[in-house]
Amino acid sequence: MSSPELVPGLAGIPAAESSVSFIDGQKGVLEYRGYPIEELSEHSTYEEVAWLVLYGELPTADELAAFTADLGRLRVPPPALVEMVKAFPRTGHPMQALQASIAGLGMVCPKVDLNDAASKDAAARRVIAVTPVLVALFERVRAGQEYVEPRADVTTAANFLWCLDGVEPAEIAVKTLDCAMILHAEHTMNASTFACRVVASTENDPYTSCSSAVGALFGPLHGGANERVLKQLSTIDGVDTVQGWFDEKIAKKAKVMGFGHRVYKTKDPRAKNLQTLAIQLFEELGSTPKYDVALKLEEVVTAKLGDRGIYPNVDFFSGLVYEKLGLQIDVFTPLFAMARVSGYCAHWLEQLEDNKLFRPAQIYVGQRERKYVPISER
Ligand code: CMC
Repeated sequence: MSSPELVPGLAGIPAAESSVSFIDGQKGVLEYRGYPIEELSEHSTYEEVAWLVLYGELPTADELAAFTADLGRLRVPPPALVEMVKAFPRTGHPMQALQASIAGLGMVCPKVDLNDAASKDAAARRVIAVTPVLVALFERVRAGQEYVEPRADVTTAANFLWCLDGVEPAEIAVKTLDCAMILHAEHTMNASTFACRVVASTENDPYTSCSSAVGALFGPLHGGANERVLKQLSTIDGVDTVQGWFDEKIAKKAKVMGFGHRVYKTKDPRAKNLQTLAIQLFEELGSTPKYDVALKLEEVVTAKLGDRGIYPNVDFFSGLVYEKLGLQIDVFTPLFAMARVSGYCAHWLEQLEDNKLFRPAQIYVGQRERKYVPISER
């Protein structure tokens, strides 16, 4: 039997059957459980989308009310976890803190019975509920501020902003963040979701699976691109210098952050929605010169690389939105993560439904059958 050929990065190789979300990379389509992302971002809420992603159907009014109340109740982190996060080094990246604190959540929560649907469901809901609070908590800790207790009477987005600042958030900030969370909730078999499913396949709880996924999301080729996009826009002096900046990048064979995608070969539909969100925000709060630079950069990059399918991805406009909301640059990727945990949990549940341990093969290219040489003879 001939050996299978290596596919670097498993590009195009299916790793699972899934009914959670769908992408058409040529047409720029993204659907959660069959519902187009455009419709969800216009009409839905993060809580409703989290339910949809987890359970496959839009909730009834009663189901949504009960789910929202449950998330409100579950979002209070156990005191031991709060103390753990308070002890983290302030110099750590918020994604490192988040990865550690989601793993820590598993240390202080009841053991999950993987054979019991209610136990699995409760654990998934707990991860979705607590994660935004953990992000806000580390923000407070590293700023030397007191922990702000979460509230059960507001939405996930409103509570996050409340926990971050300890003041009633502006309506536009809540609405914008809620929409950004919808757009980040789920995205098929990307690197972090795959990481989540690999860890789930060893029969692990969602705390361990999601903390591993957060580690995968941290990298600059994945979710970590969003903070780099904003840093990149800050290094470009103005619209007139964009072309020269880009030519230099390309000459050095460097990548432009916020462009390109393994699956999308056209503009990422989430980038289109986030751009609309940015425009709406700028109308209320005033624009930023970085947006003009971003528009010029999109024009320049797509003129040169568009025929190779390189267009703006989800991370290109999200940073401009978050910056306008007054959020720190290095908290952009945790914002992505706190929305994406609903997708991770849906994949965790799906993986466990008909689990098969992930154990791929390798193509061995090393030496074989060597004779041991005693240290005195080396
Ligand atoms: N800027 C310049 N050239 C690019 C870019 C880019 N952003 N993206 C891809 N290319 C080129 C790349 O240099 C390579 O060229 P060549 O064939 O001459 O060596 C070719 O396109 C294929 O690139 P690749 O990296 O092998 O392809 P991939 O399918 O692995 O790429 C990607 C996907 C996201 C890793 C890549 O586009 C990239 O590194 N983009 C920049 C980082 C980024 O914005 N990441 C966020 C991704 S979307 C959100 C998420 O997943 O979290």
